[in-house]
Amino acid sequence: MARFEAAGPLPGSAVLVRLGAIGAVMLSVAGAFAYTAGWLSPQRLTQDGMMDAFEDANGAHPGFRRNHAKGVCVTGWFETSGQAVPLSKAALFRPGTVPVVGRFALAGGMPLQADSPATVRSMALRFLPPGGEEWRTGMNNIPVFVVNSARGFYDQISASARDPATGKPDPEKMKAFLAAHPETVRALAIIAKRPVSSGFANSTFNGLDAFRFVNAAGAAVPVRWSTVPVQPFVAHDAAPSEMSDPNYLFKDLIDQIAQHPLQWRLVITVGQESDPTNDATLPWPADRHQIDAGTVTIDHAESEDGGNCTAVNYDPLVLPPGIEPSDDPLLSARSAAYAASFTLRAGEQHEKPASAVTPQDIRARSKS
Ligand code: HEM
Repeated sequence: MARFEAAGPLPGSAVLVRLGAIGAVMLSVAGAFAYTAGWLSPQRLTQDGMMDAFEDANGAHPGFRRNHAKGVCVTGWFETSGQAVPLSKAALFRPGTVPVVGRFALAGGMPLQADSPATVRSMALRFLPPGGEEWRTGMNNIPVFVVNSARGFYDQISASARDPATGKPDPEKMKAFLAAHPETVRALAIIAKRPVSSGFANSTFNGLDAFRFVNAAGAAVPVRWSTVPVQPFVAHDAAPSEMSDPNYLFKDLIDQIAQHPLQWRLVITVGQESDPTNDATLPWPADRHQIDAGTVTIDHAESEDGGNCTAVNYDPLVLPPGIEPSDDPLLSARSAAYAASFTLRAGEQHEKPASAVTPQDIRARSKS
């Protein structure tokens, strides 16, 4: 089967600083998870240390997600193609459609940051098939992740934090971080060549971590997944968007949804035994078998200010029977960090404004 790809690259400069904003956070309340998952030990990382690192890098923004803080809620549905049924017994792949609650966002812990092409974009989806199964996934528009461990993530955030004396990241700290993390140097070289599209609607989003699909007979295969836009690719520098508007990416997205539903194909890449499942910085060979599992359609947008994704934690370990975690250590680290971020933001008085794109903005754009 043909591969599903989009096209067109972005200069690599500033990528690391932007990715630095992908953020970290670990745990305050979720320490028990982290401990059980085996990635946290008093000598290596503490929850408070990770929280501080995140806040040092982004400032304090009570009430917001500690990472991917700027976003918009969306809803729609998933219609299966039936092609994933031989690989996974998950109910959502059986014939029919299931409701989806999603969120598009920008990496980084700054809820009012200005939109820019280089900032990592994300799509998070919550599939709600009947019968109580549920699948949550968060994907980014980069081909590989920048680190392969919680420690690497913490180190990266710490190295990207602004020096209070200069207001800028200390280049020496970043140099030292990169010297200690050759996997990040390799990943950044791949990321620098990625095609960057004009907006959310024509971005390909990748799950990056590996998982396992398990079918009704109990057979398991390693997988990674992506959502590939049906909307045609236009390079970010070829589109007539209003890049001077600090919310241009979100406004374009809302305008497009108001005009017609947007669609992505859910593409499953099936790994082979030799493919790394425990290192999200490493791509799998380009010729791996892919299946088109179905189509995600998004037809409605809502502000995060009261929107139906605001209280959702897109924990990558909320999985239905038929989808299982791999041995990737980032999965348990993410699960713990998202829980900590969720617990904090849910208990905080919300900073104002409560979102960059307000309910009034959405109503006005949806009528125009
Ligand atoms: C140790 C590694 C990581 C840490 C500590 C981390 C941390 C976080 C945190 C704290 C949030 C906010 C969660 C919330 O409040 O709901 C978040 C959001 C997100 N992260 Fe990560 N992350 C990590 C790795 C990754 C990886 C490998 C991906 C790959 C796709 C990823 C994709 C996302 C996405 C898409 C969101 C936004 C979800 C939403 O819209 O609510 N993260 N991350």
